[in-house]
Amino acid sequence: MSEPRSVFDEIGHDTFDRLVAGFYARVKEDDILGPMYPAEDWAGAEWRLKMFLIQFWGGPSEYSAERGHPRLRMRHAPFTIDAAAAERWLELMKASMDELPASALSDAHRAALWEHMVRVAYMLVNHT
Ligand code: HEM
Repeated sequence: MSEPRSVFDEIGHDTFDRLVAGFYARVKEDDILGPMYPAEDWAGAEWRLKMFLIQFWGGPSEYSAERGHPRLRMRHAPFTIDAAAAERWLELMKASMDELPASALSDAHRAALWEHMVRVAYMLVNHT
């Protein structure tokens, strides 16, 4: 018996690549989020988010091989994340997701990715 296909298998690496690239293109220009990210390491930041998402959705675990357990709340503790920052993060991610055609991301996968991101974004709020 072969392993059941994961969400990652169905979505594919290329779509995660496009989603995260579109997101960071927006973050770079953003007044709230832009200054929080490491200006000298955009490529690294892009790799970390992309590989985290790929791993979460059942793809290769390169993220943890490189970074260890995600522990996202701890890793976001150095940043001041209020509700406005979380909402902006989601807004930019939504805009990037909306650029992907249905052929790259089905409605069901779109909804699943979105639900997870909303949940994590509000979990990461650490400031009023
Ligand atoms: C709520 C608003 C959020 C803000 C303001 C925020 C901000 C940041 C910043 C400034 C970094 C450091 C960039 C780097 O060097 O990698 C980062 C890293 C990261 N973020 Fe977020 N983030 C948010 C939400 C999220 C969400 C929703 C996810 C996942 C769905 C996420 C996943 C990650 C991951 C995986 C990393 C890299 C962690 C590491 O290995 O160091 N973030 N975030």
